[in-house]
Amino acid sequence: MTSSILHRIPIQPPIAREAKGIYITLEDGNVFIDACGGALVTAVGHCHPTVIRAIEEQIGKLTFLWSMSVSNSPAEELAKLLVEDSDGAFNAATFYNGGSESVEAAMKVTKQYFFQKNEPQRVKFIARERSYHGDTISTLSLTGGNPYTAPFNDLYDKEHFHRVSAVYPFRNAAKAGGDAAYVASLIRELDDKFQELGPDTVCAFIAEPIAGAGLGIVKAPDGYFEGVRKICDKYGALLIYDEVLCGQGRLGTTHAWQSLGGKDRAVRPDLQTIGKCLGGGYAPIAALLFSQKVSDGIKINGNWLRHGHTYSNHILSCTAALAVQRLIKSENLLENVNAIGPYIEKKLKLSLKDSDLAPFVADIRGGGTLWGIEFSLEFVGKIAGFFPIFCYQENLLAVAVPGTPPNDDLSFSGIGDYTSIAPPFNVSKEEVDMIIEKFSRALRNTLKSLQLL
Ligand SMILES: Cc1ncc(COP(=O)(O)O)c(C=O)c1O
Repeated sequence: MTSSILHRIPIQPPIAREAKGIYITLEDGNVFIDACGGALVTAVGHCHPTVIRAIEEQIGKLTFLWSMSVSNSPAEELAKLLVEDSDGAFNAATFYNGGSESVEAAMKVTKQYFFQKNEPQRVKFIARERSYHGDTISTLSLTGGNPYTAPFNDLYDKEHFHRVSAVYPFRNAAKAGGDAAYVASLIRELDDKFQELGPDTVCAFIAEPIAGAGLGIVKAPDGYFEGVRKICDKYGALLIYDEVLCGQGRLGTTHAWQSLGGKDRAVRPDLQTIGKCLGGGYAPIAALLFSQKVSDGIKINGNWLRHGHTYSNHILSCTAALAVQRLIKSENLLENVNAIGPYIEKKLKLSLKDSDLAPFVADIRGGGTLWGIEFSLEFVGKIAGFFPIFCYQENLLAVAVPGTPPNDDLSFSGIGDYTSIAPPFNVSKEEVDMIIEKFSRALRNTLKSLQLL
């Protein structure tokens, strides 16, 4: 078959016919297991009947309203649910079509907030190296270029977007003298960056509470976000959390920052994006959550939000997300996420660390239904290209990302190739067993084909 789609991968991807839970059936009848919910999206699995019913009911009544003239009940109810579920951290929400749009919205809202606060000179954002905030020019400007984005690297705005080091304790904390010393050095670096840029020119610091696509699921050590919050408050900048990947229950708490241990527990942002597990893949949707401080600042002196798109607060997307969020609550799915997390960890360690695969697996990290597996640095660039192909031979859909060797100047200690496992919140132990069995066999076959095993 010749496709008229210009695909994002060099081969024609197979076409699926139907899906249920973790299973995807292709047109040829072959059944695959979705080990990571596509791009870590499917919070309640594919085609859950409760969500499907909610969408079907809505489609029969109303399918589009323009948010600048008429609002809709699913969007209103979804915003209310998100606000009520935030333990007081947020008091308003707006909805967009995807994660990149929600990060873009966070940046524009930040700028509008300071513009109305008579601080128009605040025009700079600080992000972290090796973070991922989206695939548009401005979100790529936040993170800077990499070899994959080479065609676009000249377009990034280097005047307004700046970065500090990635937070990657696995290979850096010991070198820095332990977690506490590592955190202290990261916070010092952030303080220095504010000073270098001119503290009153910085709008916001943006970070993923759990670094996802760019680092393979990495939690910051205790105390990091507490230190970040202090620096932002000291210089009057906003703190933005990007929870597009890690939020809405993946880690077993509604917000990922609520899962961070120690002193970080209560470190709230001023703005937060959420995405993938909001709609769970049933419709394109992401959201921006506003703290009281920011929403008051936007509404000050009779002002209103100066940002939106044709499909903002789309009724069908909000219907789907509302059904997903209600399902997570009514079926107590976060309980399952919390119960299955240690089981996934135990099984991964048993299969990958207590076996002949151990020399090839550097680290297993994460929590709940969000796990990263980093392969040994010695094999950097070798495993990622082949592993998904051998997963495919096991009827397992998985992604892997090539790592990066250490810098010559030793400022970055390198990262091995990595992959992730992110099953839906309602995954069973038997399904986890099946995923990990196929995963290990695929890794073994990858290593054999590379003549490493
Ligand atoms: C943390 C984070 N922010 C933003 C995005 C961009 O989301 P989207 O691909 O829906 O635009 C992603 C996507 O993976 C992400 O992981």
